[in-house]
Amino acid sequence: MSLWNQARRSARLNPSIIREILKVTEKPGILSMAGGLPSADTFPVEAMRAACAKVLSDSPREALQYAASEGFAPLREWVAHKLNGMGLKVNADQVLITTGSQQGLDLVGKVMVDAGAPVAVETPTYLGALQAFNPYEPIYTSLASDGDGPLPSAIAALPHDAPGTRFAYLLPNFQNPTGRVMPEARRAALVKAAQAARVPLVEDNPYGDLWFDEEPPAPMASRWPEGTIYLGSFSKVLAPGFRLGYVVAPPELCPKLLQAKQAADLHTPGFNQRVVYEVIRDGFLDQHVPTIRERYRRQRDAMAVALSEHLPEGSEWQSPQGGMFFWVRLPAGCDALALLPAAVEAGIAFVPGGAFYAHAPDTRTLRLSFVTLSPEDIADGVATLGRVLREHLEAHAEMAP
Ligand SMILES: Cc1ncc(COP(=O)(O)O)c(C=O)c1O
Repeated sequence: MSLWNQARRSARLNPSIIREILKVTEKPGILSMAGGLPSADTFPVEAMRAACAKVLSDSPREALQYAASEGFAPLREWVAHKLNGMGLKVNADQVLITTGSQQGLDLVGKVMVDAGAPVAVETPTYLGALQAFNPYEPIYTSLASDGDGPLPSAIAALPHDAPGTRFAYLLPNFQNPTGRVMPEARRAALVKAAQAARVPLVEDNPYGDLWFDEEPPAPMASRWPEGTIYLGSFSKVLAPGFRLGYVVAPPELCPKLLQAKQAADLHTPGFNQRVVYEVIRDGFLDQHVPTIRERYRRQRDAMAVALSEHLPEGSEWQSPQGGMFFWVRLPAGCDALALLPAAVEAGIAFVPGGAFYAHAPDTRTLRLSFVTLSPEDIADGVATLGRVLREHLEAHAEMAP
């Protein structure tokens, strides 16, 4: 018997299949469509270099000292101003700067979830949120959904017994993993259903600025501010290496989220917050984000063409209107996880979709990122995927009785 008796929650900490796959794809020569990473070619390196130098010359002592747990005040103001422009009514006091929005998910789990408490999630949902919530031992309800997102009737059907579902975790914009966006009418209907069922919302929006065709509708939080915790991130519009995100909560929750944050890491690195604020304070993102959209739109188009050309009949997907991912459903009889070793052998990688489900996974699904490969490599990678898939289908047909 081990000397170390681990907490029960450690049994719920499991290796991320995505990280395991990424290890394989670090091998040279692999065309990886598996990552959840933004394109490093979008990082504004020069602006960051200049901002680092400015922060170190203007306020080195403050930047290198411990800092407030709430976050750097001018950055909190900036976030509140941005969100007010998107239709939310946010005071800077409600903004908690977090170490990536991933930490925001952990803090929400810590403050809101008891062991055995019900939490509703999309089908499928962001794997990293399941990882963040799992240690707090929720019981998940998977919300039935269609191409527009979860169904309002699924919210209405959530258990009503006190204390009820702690929250529904929703990703309205270019969801990870499916890429889907919830139209205006669906958002309105979901909020109405959630209000009627008294189920608060946790809205995660790291991809909303990365729209290609048209700007997505206003956040759910603008329709129900007192019933929604909103999470945002600088990872996809600037650089994930700074680990900067934010949680905006109704005032009654702010003290507890702050105390949870203090316990976790005292504060998000002050130097990083000042550098990012220095970069964005004068409207930098208004010029920068459109360049990311333009780049990703071309890559999205390349992948849409390649999928139409190379995937066998019976495969299903929708071209995403923003974000970083295509979600593909393979023909009947295919298992994406079983396909992966042959795909890696052939020089490509993707993420099998099963890990994104809280319950019964659809094993025919997989996620493809289009943002870290050139349009030419996307064409080659998808052609390889099509070939491996056909071989898999042929082998399967031969094995069938
Ligand atoms: C839906 C979603 N939420 C949250 C995160 C975490 O982002 P970060 O911690 O870098 O802000 C990610 C990262 O890929 C994501 O896809």
